[in-house]
Order: sequence, then C-alpha cells, then structure tokens
Amino acid sequence: MKHYSLIAPAKINLYLEIIGDRPDGYHELAMVMQSIDLADQIDIASNGSPIIRIGCENPDVPTDNTNLAYRAAELMVKNFPEAYAKIGGVDITIHKRIPISAGLAGGSTNAAAVLVGIDLLWNLGLTQSEIEELGSQLGSDVPFCVAGGTAIATGRGEQLSALLGLNNIYIVLGKYRSLSVSTPWAYKTYRQQFGDTYIKDKDSLAVRAAAVHSAPMVQAILHKNAAEISQKLHNDLEKVVLPEYSLVLQLRETFASFEGVLGTMMSGSGPSVFAICDSVERANQVKDGVRKIIPDEDLDLFVAQMISHGIHVKPM
Ligand code: C5P
Repeated sequence: MKHYSLIAPAKINLYLEIIGDRPDGYHELAMVMQSIDLADQIDIASNGSPIIRIGCENPDVPTDNTNLAYRAAELMVKNFPEAYAKIGGVDITIHKRIPISAGLAGGSTNAAAVLVGIDLLWNLGLTQSEIEELGSQLGSDVPFCVAGGTAIATGRGEQLSALLGLNNIYIVLGKYRSLSVSTPWAYKTYRQQFGDTYIKDKDSLAVRAAAVHSAPMVQAILHKNAAEISQKLHNDLEKVVLPEYSLVLQLRETFASFEGVLGTMMSGSGPSVFAICDSVERANQVKDGVRKIIPDEDLDLFVAQMISHGIHVKPM
C-alpha cells in the first residue's frame, strides 16, 4: 500500500496583535508566524478499507474525531468522495514531539500534514492555496502550517503573505507538560478586558491589518537581524495569560535573566514561552541554566531553530 512520512513543524508567533471583532465571533488579527524545526512525524498510508484510523504512542493525543488530524481526513473524504471510494481510507500514525496544548500549533500542523498526505496518496494534484483553503475550514492556524516559513497572517489568521525565510536563529522553548491554556478562554478574556480598544469600523480595521506589512517587526525580519526581531516581539494575549498563570510569567522572567537572551515571549495563547538566543551554543547554555533554576520535571525544555518551510515529505 502507498504510504508517506511527513514532517510537520511547530510554529511560534513573533507578533500577535488583536485588532477587532469579526462577524463570525472570531477576532481580526495581525500576526507574524514562524516555523521552527521542533516537529512531529506523520506517517500516512492507504488501508484499502473505508476506515480512518489514528494511532499515537502518546495517550494524551486523542485518536477519534476530536483530533484535528482526524477531522482533516474526514474533510478530504467529504470533498473527494470519488478518490475515497476508489482508494479507501487511511491509517495515520502521529509521532509526537511538539508539546500538546502549547500555543505551538501542534494539532494544526498535524492536520496540515494529513491534508498534504492525502493529496499525495489520492493523486489529487491540489495546489498549495487549495490545500490552505481546506485547512482554513479546520482551524485558523492550519493554512499557515501548510507552507510554513515566516509569514504575515491577518484576518482570522488564514490570510497569509510569505516573508523572506529566517534560519540560523535559535530559540529555547519551555512548556509545563501539565499546564494548558484554553485558547477560547484567552480570547474571550481579552475581549472582556480590552474590547473597548477594538477598532470598530471595517475600513479602519483593513487599514490597521495592512499596516502590519510595514511594521517594525517585518522590517527586522527583512534585515534578518535576530536582535532587532527580539526587540519587536509582541503578543497581546500575554496581557491576560501572564496575570493568571504565574508559572508562565516566572518562566518568561527566568529566560529573560540570562545573558545572551535577546528577547522572550509567550507563543500564541500559551502556555509555551520562547527565548531568542544569539547562538546555538548560548541556547543550549540557557536551556541547561533554566533547568538548574527550575528543576521541576514537569517543565519540558527544547532548543529549536527557525526554519523556512512547513510540511514536507521526509526523504526515504
Ligand atoms: O481557529 P481555532 O479553532 O484554532 O481557534 C480556537 C479559538 O480561538 C476559537 O474558538 C476562538 O475562540 C479563538 N480565536 C479567535 N480569533 C481568531 C482565532 C481564534 O477568537 N482569529
């Protein structure tokens, strides 16, 4: 049976600004997203039966249709019934490395990999933008995860403009395994506390979203300057998550206390926090140093690198 192994990278948010409400109940965002080489592997194979099956060695990863990867397969079945009738269902094995419920788009990147994998298995020949459009039906971060790299994301997060790829910039990433922040809670709380600052009229919203294209963060990315990027890090959701989750605040402050850390920020709705370092050696030193200050075994620490691509087939 035909099968593929796909590499599905995580993302961090270098910039996340909440600019207003949307008629669909979501928020208008202006973001800069960045892929990192901390990645899951998704093995996907035709199984010659009508079934969609998910397997994962991590018992915390659901294997039913509450898993976005499962829903990605269901979406392909719904959209391409002839290919499904002819070729049948898929077995999906998720090799999890990306921390779950972390603000790193772990579930979204798995779903993106399933879309790409089924496109290959069923010989559909979909374009990148067709896959992204399908992805947007699953979640706001899925379209970015398809091509990955460095991109401006506006609208719900699904309107993408690729930026020059960054590499050779290293981060240390921390996530408490047993800590999770509900993304709907974070956005809802932000609306309750800061909703009166939202831009209300449609034209002004469009102007504000367009302004991100010339924002200092985007300039810093064009300069490929890690120190400049680090100074421009921003995440509005920190305003609601940090006061509520003292461990996240403490981790952020611990990262910031190290020499050679250029900047630190929470990713997405958290609770993962990353620190940009001036070299890979420094990133490893910071990781070891944080481990000494916070010996809590519940804290997972990773060194990762910014990369310029999203889902890709693993070379055999
Ligand atoms: O799109 P996704 O399912 O990843 O979003 C999770 C939750 O985050 C949504 O249910 C919503 O509460 C919030 N969200 C939002 N505005 C966005 C993206 C997400 O309010 N642009």
